[in-house]
Amino acid sequence: MKTVNINEGILITFLDFLKEGIIIVDEESKTIEFVNRFAKKFLKNEDYVGKNFKEVIDNDYITSLISYNQDKEVKAEVNIDNQKYLINVYKIEGKKIIHLQDITPFEVYKQAKKDFVSNVSHELKTPISVLKSAVETLEEEKDPVMIKKFLDIAKKRIDQMDHLINDLLILARLESQEDQVKKEHYNLHKQIEDIFEDLKHLTQEKNITLINQVPKNFVIYADEQKLSIALKNLVENAIKYNKQDGKVIVNAVKDSKNVTISVEDTGIGIPEESIPLVFERFYRVDKSRSRNIGGTGLGLSIVKHITEAHKGKVWVESKLGKGSKFYIRIPNS
Ligand SMILES: Nc1ncnc2c1ncn2[C@@H]1O[C@H](COP(=O)(O)OP(=O)(O)OP(=O)(O)O)[C@@H](O)[C@H]1O
Ligand SMILES: [Mg+2]
Repeated sequence: MKTVNINEGILITFLDFLKEGIIIVDEESKTIEFVNRFAKKFLKNEDYVGKNFKEVIDNDYITSLISYNQDKEVKAEVNIDNQKYLINVYKIEGKKIIHLQDITPFEVYKQAKKDFVSNVSHELKTPISVLKSAVETLEEEKDPVMIKKFLDIAKKRIDQMDHLINDLLILARLESQEDQVKKEHYNLHKQIEDIFEDLKHLTQEKNITLINQVPKNFVIYADEQKLSIALKNLVENAIKYNKQDGKVIVNAVKDSKNVTISVEDTGIGIPEESIPLVFERFYRVDKSRSRNIGGTGLGLSIVKHITEAHKGKVWVESKLGKGSKFYIRIPNS
């Protein structure tokens, strides 16, 4: 095999750059020969060169892996200080080379995927079982009043599933690389008017007043379609979680860099401890309360996604029992 001469200094600097740990132990003397910068956190102190690895390495699991009488390679996963590491120990020419990788982000991702699938299945299971029993009842039912009642139940559950699938499709599209933000200049006042028109039917039950305070000639530079989805979600929430005769006020201000749009309501508000969680997928403040209103808890995660795709941020100020004000701030160029 052809060998390449690499300057030792360059190699050590490179190993110190790595976000992975490397420890080299001499098999015969059991002493430590090298530790890169990342791996130093696994040591008891900085005084390690030439010391027995068992005296210096601050983790029994790692020392037992090094001690293991191996042929080639040993692999294990271990939890240290709330992080998960993948440890590989290689045996090469009388040395043991220990490679430590922080795999916590992959674990978090794996868990999120599992949670997502179980949440979606759960959200579909309820409407499907209600739908199934409504259809079974309809097979036997002769009374037109009862038939209408069960058809209404079935329709409501179909709408609920349709809403969930639509939200999932929006999220999937937002997450795919192809779906980039396509910014253009357009009139925000007009966009809010269109959203109000679309959601007018939801205001009747509690007699909610929708107020568009965005100046008539307010021009914004954003992805019109995506921002419309985000603002529609905020206005829909402001209507759904409002009180009898409540108000929803949309406003926007501009400075030299940003546009800040606010959607304010006079509704039930959000408890302080829930505020950091409302933008998480499937999170609902009070599941029984929200289930009556019929949400799936995806709306605000879509809003967050769209805002971040615009390199902006979204946040909320809220007082329980008094109302909430959601803000979207995006760069105006
Ligand atoms: N304006 C608001 N006032 C009070 N609570 C709110 C408001 N907006 C959102 N919330 C709370 O935050 C939760 C998450 O909102 P989100 O829009 O993500 O989901 P949802 O409205 O339940 O369902 P979806 O939007 O998917 O139909 C809601 O269930 C509700 O408890
Ligand atoms: Mg919502």
